[in-house]
Amino acid sequence: MIDKIKQHIKEAQAFTTEDKTTLEEFRIKYLGSKGLLKDFFAEFKNVPNEQKKEFGQVINELKNTAEEKVKSIQELLESKTESINLFGDLSRPGTPINIGSRHPISLVKNQILDVFSTIGFNVSEGPEIEDDWHNFTALNLPEYHPARDMQDTFFIQTNPDVLLRTHTSSVQVRYMENNKPPIRTISPGRVFRNEAISSRSHCIFHQVEGLYIDKNVSFADLKQTLLYFTKEMFGKSKIRLRPSYFPFTEPSAEVDIYWGLKTETDYRITKGTGWLEIMGCGMVDPNVLKNCGIDPNEYTGYAFGMGIERIAMLLYQIGDIRMFYENDVRFLEQFKSSL
Ligand code: DAH
Repeated sequence: MIDKIKQHIKEAQAFTTEDKTTLEEFRIKYLGSKGLLKDFFAEFKNVPNEQKKEFGQVINELKNTAEEKVKSIQELLESKTESINLFGDLSRPGTPINIGSRHPISLVKNQILDVFSTIGFNVSEGPEIEDDWHNFTALNLPEYHPARDMQDTFFIQTNPDVLLRTHTSSVQVRYMENNKPPIRTISPGRVFRNEAISSRSHCIFHQVEGLYIDKNVSFADLKQTLLYFTKEMFGKSKIRLRPSYFPFTEPSAEVDIYWGLKTETDYRITKGTGWLEIMGCGMVDPNVLKNCGIDPNEYTGYAFGMGIERIAMLLYQIGDIRMFYENDVRFLEQFKSSL
């Protein structure tokens, strides 16, 4: 009998399962109300006295072994279900991560910054919520100046001094206030205008502003820089400067590049002329320099500003500006292979 019990101890020790029903069968077999231990304990009274001690020890050992086994397997199985509930099936292959791509506006912005950084321009930024001074007054656009109407402004609450900047030219002012010439800086950023939304214009868009201040800077320097930019950016080397008006530059000009008239699209986007307007520019008005603490008798400079959306639309042949802000992944995914 004792040998038989010892045999059961060995079996119980060796027992293992990952299945709850098999574990329950094991428990019933040993510990159940009609289980083996019950039988062995009942047998106790028939055991000769001299064997009682050893008999008692082995059935207790069997009981402890069986109980411990049930407990440890139970714990193991529970922790497994827990982890399955927490993490799902850990043996399944992972879900692929959908890697995003840069937005076309960022791509074009980075390209523009790259072109100018190779000729020594640094990058500067300013706040999107501006005050009247930096967005208008310092730029030679005092209150009631009619040119303010060119840029329909969003004001913050009812305070006419706090507004969403209408152009990145405000960063010029901040930069000149805080830095001494020579200055070569390029300022990308988001701008806001209270305009009706259509395929050609939006109330939120992006600009890049350029500013160059030093001794003896001339209009010829400006023209050369623009020519370099259009060559690098568009691969086109024919530009023209059309006289124009901006309050913050004197003289002012609008820059057209010769796009050509090879395809039907060329005819459409250049309205049959072959020329495309890409930015505004000019020599920084002496008043602006003065407003920003720079002596116009000592320094001169040029500035230019362009819309990033317009350039992105040209480069990627996008017909509707609204596409940039809809975040339609079918549109955005097309730029995946770009930088
Ligand atoms: N700020 C002008 C605009 O938003 C663009 C511009 C034109 C910027 C001429 C300049 C400039 O720096 O010289 O329409």
